[in-house]
Amino acid sequence: MKRRQFLRAATMAGAGAMILPRVRLFGADAPSNKLNIALLGTWGRGEAHFGAISTENVVALCDVNEEHLAFGARKFPAAKQYNDWRKCLDQKDINAVVCCTADHNHAFAANWALNRGLHVYCEKPLANSVEEARVVRANYLKNKGKVATQVGTQRHEYENFNRVRELVLDGAVGQLESVCAWGNRQLGRPGYLPAAGDPPRHFHYDLWLGPSPYHPYNPGYFSGGPGMNCLQWNMYWDFGSGQVGDMGSHTMDLAWNALDADLPTSAEAKGDKFNPDVTPVRFEEHFDIPANTWRPAVRASWYQGGAMPESPNRCINLKAIDHGAMFEGTKGVLVADFTSRVLYPGGDKADFTYYKPRAKEALLPPMRGGFQREWINACKGSLKTSCDFDYGGKMIEMMLLGLVAYRVGNKFSYDGATGQVTDCPEAAQYLRRTYRPGWPLNG
Ligand SMILES: NC(=O)c1ccc[n+]([C@@H]2O[C@H](COP(=O)([O-])OP(=O)(O)OC[C@H]3O[C@@H](n4cnc5c(N)ncnc54)[C@H](O)[C@@H]3O)[C@@H](O)[C@H]2O)c1
Repeated sequence: MKRRQFLRAATMAGAGAMILPRVRLFGADAPSNKLNIALLGTWGRGEAHFGAISTENVVALCDVNEEHLAFGARKFPAAKQYNDWRKCLDQKDINAVVCCTADHNHAFAANWALNRGLHVYCEKPLANSVEEARVVRANYLKNKGKVATQVGTQRHEYENFNRVRELVLDGAVGQLESVCAWGNRQLGRPGYLPAAGDPPRHFHYDLWLGPSPYHPYNPGYFSGGPGMNCLQWNMYWDFGSGQVGDMGSHTMDLAWNALDADLPTSAEAKGDKFNPDVTPVRFEEHFDIPANTWRPAVRASWYQGGAMPESPNRCINLKAIDHGAMFEGTKGVLVADFTSRVLYPGGDKADFTYYKPRAKEALLPPMRGGFQREWINACKGSLKTSCDFDYGGKMIEMMLLGLVAYRVGNKFSYDGATGQVTDCPEAAQYLRRTYRPGWPLNG
């Protein structure tokens, strides 16, 4: 039995039968039942994972910045060290990967890891293009039942996510008609930065660029150190997707979690004047989401950088909520941020008699142990997580499809089964990206 299969079997079978007197050799917490984790990106967001993964064996560290790698190695001195995640993923004893690199490597590292049969926790956003999202999701679905995956939208652990889902499912707004999410961050950039000398010797800039087209080095793409603003590179088309992939991943999750949604059948978007270098600051995208068994087709929208949904009532000041979601139905409106919510009746007829709050015992259970722990436990047992690459993959595919609609400037129809825009041939070129040699998405 391969080590990975053994870990699962040991946990699923109930460790008790295998525990020898006095010495715990096996079982969920035994040394032999620890994951062998590779951490890609050992500083910044990578550090936020140190606590969760330190309960496991961290056997490999990878960072393109030698100083950041050394930072990780101080915490996990026994781990082998790499600068190139492609080489790291070939280390034979690894069975799980946490990917905290910059966005433009996410789908690649995740997909390569799945191809090697590894469990994957990938920081948000899971992908930088519609094609990347589809390839990673399809690969996960092919390997479902063998690996556990989680997209790093850790706010999902807040109990408010469950309460919002219950209210929508139980009809507190009547029949759901539309949903939207928004974020107010504005990180404008004029364009790619000019060449500014050679990268420092401790920084493997070419590996940082990875699959993306070449742009000369400029320190302005990188955070300057602890306490400095992170994600400096995120606004540039070749490195990120701006707020769509950044806070959009977190905030749309609040809405997506209450929809049981499939891919949209249409997309349209508008925003700042198109800039070929940088993604828009002010931007909004809208989608038609097909009906499912418990609700009709609904409209889903994302607003950012100053674009905002209309307030349903002058008593509700949506602008006071930095990152929020709103569900509008036939009987009322539910407005939520990550940790709280307010339910607003839609008029005189909305007397709430149509809605019965759940009994305490029927509430959705809290995520015990936290979001990262959910994935670690899943790797060793059920393989089930809240934000697997199916759930999170579909969500980011929709969000990124909106950027395609923005680039073509038209509303178009989308076939989620094939990943094709069916009535706008110009859109096809924006569904995928072009990569540098040596960086196949499916490696
Ligand atoms: N879930 C959250 O709340 C949250 C918060 C912040 C960042 N993030 C995500 O985490 C990722 C990292 O964000 P950050 O702010 O820490 O960025 P960062 O630029 O500081 O990078 C993090 C670390 O990864 C290293 N790195 C970058 N590219 C690499 C590569 N190809 N191979 C190996 N190492 C690489 C960097 O040198 C750095 O040490 C981003 O994708 C971001 O969206 C998530």
